[in-house]
Amino acid sequence: MYLFQRSVDLQNWLETVRGHNRKIGFVPTMGALHDGHLSLIRQSAAENSFTVCSIFVNPTQFNDASDLEKYPRTPGNDIELLVGSGCNALFLPTVEEVYPTDLDTSVSVDLHPLDTVMEGAFRPGHFAGVVQVVYRLLQLVQPDQLYMGQKDYQQLTIIREMIRQLELPVKLVMVPIRREPDGLAMSSRNVRLSPAFRAIAPVIHRILQQVKEQVDEKSVSELEAWAMQQLAEAGLRPEYFEIVDGNTLKAISSLSKTKSAVACMAAWAGDIRLIDNMIL
Ligand code: PAF
Repeated sequence: MYLFQRSVDLQNWLETVRGHNRKIGFVPTMGALHDGHLSLIRQSAAENSFTVCSIFVNPTQFNDASDLEKYPRTPGNDIELLVGSGCNALFLPTVEEVYPTDLDTSVSVDLHPLDTVMEGAFRPGHFAGVVQVVYRLLQLVQPDQLYMGQKDYQQLTIIREMIRQLELPVKLVMVPIRREPDGLAMSSRNVRLSPAFRAIAPVIHRILQQVKEQVDEKSVSELEAWAMQQLAEAGLRPEYFEIVDGNTLKAISSLSKTKSAVACMAAWAGDIRLIDNMIL
C-alpha cells in the first residue's frame, strides 16, 4: 500500500494506474478505522482495480470545536488495518493540502431540504462541510466509484444529490451498516462510550428492529413516539427518531404509500452522540 500526504504525489501515482479499463474505487474516511470502514474497502477492492482510501478529519464539518478536538485519531492503527485490507493507496493530507489558502474550495449546491432535517437541524453547517470536503476529495482522486456507508444515511443521500446536481462522473455505492455482535452500529465514536453506556447502546438496534416489525400495525407517528419513549426509558437522550422517505428524507404520513422508508435516529449516550438507521 502506498501512502501519500501530498495531492500531487497521489495524482502522479493515479496517472500511472488509470486507464486500460481499470476502475478506481474511493473510500473517504476520517480515520479511527473499524470493521465498518474495512467492509467499504473490501467491497471497493472486489469491484475495482485500485482502491484509494483517504483519512482526513475535516474541520469544516464540525460545528462543535470540542467534538473536533476529541475526535479519535489513530493513524498508526489505521495504517495497520488498511495494509492487507485491499487498499492500494492511502491519502493522508494536512488541512493546508485539502484547503490551500490560495484556492476557493467552496461548492454551490442547493441541498434544501435534505440538509435541514434530522442531523441538519441539530448540527447546523455540518453537511455544507461534508459536501465541501467530499467534492474536493473527488476532484483530487477522480474515482469511478465512491463507497459510503449506510450508517450515515442522510450524508449519503446528500452526496448523491450533490453528484446529481453537479453531474459528477462517479457512481455512488452504498455499503450496508456493520454491527457489533450485540447490534450496536460500528462507529469511531463507540470507543469513547463509558462501560455503562456501551452496555445500554445496543438497545438502539433492538428498537429499530421492533419498529420494523410493527410497521403494519402502527402508524408512523405512533412508531416514532414509541421509539423516542423506549430510547429515553433505556437511559439515552434521544434527539430525534423519524421515519422518512428514503430518497427525499421528507416526513411520511403513511408507510403503505411510500416505496422506500427509512427510520433514522440520533441519541446521546452520556456525552457521546450516536446515530443509526434501518431501511424499512
Ligand atoms: O463519514 C465520514 O467519515 C465523513 O463525513 C466523510 C464522508 C469522510 C467526510 O469527511
